[in-house]
Amino acid sequence: MKVIILGIVVTLLAFLGITGPDTAPVMQDPEGAEMLKGAENSIYYEDNETCFKCHAQDFYTLEDAESGLSQKRVMCQNYIVDRDEYYQSNHWSFACTDCHSWEFSNFPHPTAERLQDHFSCLDCHGYDEAYAQYHFEEIEEEYNASTHAEIEGFSCWDCHNPHSYEINIRTSTNLKETILYDNNICLECHGNYSNFRLLSDIDEVDVVVSHEWLPNQVAHFAGVRCIECHTSINDSILVAHHILPKEQAVRNCTECHSSDSRLMATLYKFEAKEQRKRGFLNGVIVNNSYVIGATRNYFLNVASVVIFAGLMLVLMIHVFFRIKKK
Ligand code: HEC
Ligand code: HEC
Ligand code: HEC
Ligand code: HEC
Ligand code: HEC
Ligand code: HEC
Ligand code: HEC
Repeated sequence: MKVIILGIVVTLLAFLGITGPDTAPVMQDPEGAEMLKGAENSIYYEDNETCFKCHAQDFYTLEDAESGLSQKRVMCQNYIVDRDEYYQSNHWSFACTDCHSWEFSNFPHPTAERLQDHFSCLDCHGYDEAYAQYHFEEIEEEYNASTHAEIEGFSCWDCHNPHSYEINIRTSTNLKETILYDNNICLECHGNYSNFRLLSDIDEVDVVVSHEWLPNQVAHFAGVRCIECHTSINDSILVAHHILPKEQAVRNCTECHSSDSRLMATLYKFEAKEQRKRGFLNGVIVNNSYVIGATRNYFLNVASVVIFAGLMLVLMIHVFFRIKKK
C-alpha cells in the first residue's frame, strides 16, 4: 500500500512538472539577429571620442587657442558619461550628435543649444510598428497619470538614463540581477539625496525608515521590485508605469503571499505567460523564490486529501483485523 501511495505522489509530482527540469525559467532572446553591441562595433567610435575626451573622466582641459594657455578643470559628476555603459546601452549605436546638436563640437558649448529641448522617447518610438510590442503610447499615458509627471522638469529620461539605460526584464536570464537593476533606477533618487533635491524641496525621506513596517526588508527589496507595490496592474504592457500616490501603495501581505499573488501579474508576468501554457500556474514562483503562501497548488491540495483518506483507510482495515483476531 505504502509503495502504491508513494507511486501516486511521484507520478503526480512528475505530472505537475515540479521535479522535471523543464520548469526552469524560459527567457527569450529578442527576436531577429541583432548587431553585437560594443565600442568596437560602433561606426561612430572616433566621432564620439571627441566628446568622451572631456565627458568620460573627472577632469577636462580648458584651452584658449589665442593665448595658448590651458588648465585642468573638474568635470561635474552629472556630466560624466561612462564609455563602457554607453556602448552596452540600448542606444549604443548612436553618435552623441544624433541626439545633441552638432554645435556641441564647439567649446564652450553655445548657450542657445544648451537650452534646446531634448528629443522625447515618443519622438522616435511613437506609433512605430517596429516597436509595437513595447506599447510606448500606453506607457506614456500611464506615466502622465503618475505622481512623477507632476514634478517640474521630470521626464522619461530621469529613469531611463540616455547614456546607460539597457532593456532588462524582457531579456532577463537572471531575475535577481534584473530586480537589482530596476530598483537601482528608483534608488538613483530615492537613495541618493543629491539627485533627489534637484527635483524636490522636501527634506530627504529615508526609504529604509518609510518601509520599516515590512519585515526582513533586505530579502524583500532583493526579491521584488519597487514597482510591484507602487504601480497599478496593467495587463497590456510588460512594465507598469503608473506610479500611484504613496497612500495607495501595496501594504497588504496577502497581495503577494497568497495563491493568486499579484506577482504573477507584475514581476513574473513574462515568465508566467510561458508557464501558463504548460498548466502549472505558480511554477515561476517556485523557481524564483519561496514566497510563503503563494505556492499553493490545487492539484497538490487534492492529492494531499486523497493521501490522507488512503492512510485512514489503511489504518481502519488494520484496526478491523486486529479487533477481529481478538
Ligand atoms: C573641451 C571639453 C569638452 C568637449 C570636447 C565636449 N564637452 Fe560637453 N561639456 C563640457 C563641459 C565642461 C560641460 C559643462 C558645462 C560647461 O562648462 O559648458 C559640458 C556640458 C555638456 C552638455 C550639457 C549642457 C547643458 O547645459 O545641459 C552636453 C549635452 C554636452 N556637453 C555634450 C557634448 C557633446 C555631444 C560633445 C561632443 C560633440 C561635447 N559635449 C564635447 C566639456 C566638453
Ligand atoms: C539617445 C539620445 C542620446 C544620445 C545618443 C546621447 N545623449 Fe547625452 N543626453 C540625452 C538627453 C535626453 C539628455 C538630457 C537628460 C535629462 O534630461 O535628464 C542628455 C544629457 C547629456 C549631458 C548632460 C548631463 C545631464 O544629465 O543633463 C551630457 C554631458 C551628455 N548628454 C553627453 C553625451 C555624450 C558625450 C554622448 C555620446 C557619448 C551622448 N550624450 C549621447 C540624450 C542622448
Ligand atoms: C533619437 C531617436 C531615439 C530616441 C529619442 C529614443 N530612442 Fe530608443 N531607440 C532608437 C533606435 C534607432 C533604436 C535601435 C537601436 C539599435 O538597435 O541599434 C532604439 C532602441 C531602443 C530600445 C531597444 C529596442 C530593441 O528592440 O532592441 C528600447 C527599449 C528603447 N530604444 C527605449 C527608449 C526609451 C525608453 C527612450 C526614452 C527614454 C528612447 N528609446 C529614446 C531611437 C531613439
Ligand atoms: C519612475 C521611473 C520610470 C519612468 C519615469 C519611466 N520609466 Fe520606463 N521603465 C522603468 C523601469 C523600472 C522599467 C523596467 C526596465 C527593465 O527591466 O527592462 C521600464 C521599462 C520601460 C520600457 C521597456 C518595457 C518592455 O516592455 O520591455 C519602455 C519601452 C519604457 N520603460 C518606456 C518609458 C517611457 C516612454 C517613459 C516616459 C513616458 C518611461 N518609460 C518613464 C521606469 C520608468
Ligand atoms: C512591499 C511593498 C513595497 C515595496 C517593495 C516598496 N514599497 Fe515603497 N512604500 C510602500 C508603502 C505601503 C508605502 C506607504 C508607507 C506610508 O504609509 O508612509 C511606501 C512608501 C514609499 C515612498 C514614500 C515615502 C515617504 O515617506 O514619503 C517612497 C518614495 C517609496 N515607497 C519608494 C520605494 C522604493 C524606491 C522602493 C524600492 C527600493 C519601494 N518603495 C519598495 C510599499 C512598498
Ligand atoms: C529622478 C529622480 C527620481 C527617480 C529616478 C524616481 N523618483 Fe520617485 N520621486 C522623486 C521625487 C522628486 C518625488 C517627489 C517628492 C516630493 O516632492 O513630494 C518622488 C515621489 C515618489 C513617490 C511618492 C509619491 C507621493 O505620493 O508622495 C513614490 C511612491 C515614488 N516616488 C516611487 C518611485 C519609484 C517606484 C521609482 C522607480 C520606478 C521612482 N520613484 C524613481 C524622484 C524620483
Ligand atoms: C510585493 C509582494 C510582497 C509583499 C506585499 C509582501 N511580501 Fe513577503 N515576500 C515576497 C517575496 C517575493 C519573498 C521572497 C524573497 C526571497 O526571494 O527570499 C518574500 C519573503 C517573505 C518572508 C521570508 C523572508 C525571509 O526571511 O526569507 C516573510 C517572513 C515575509 N515575506 C513576510 C511578509 C509580510 C509579513 C508582509 C506584509 C507586511 C509581506 N511579506 C509582504 C513578496 C512580498
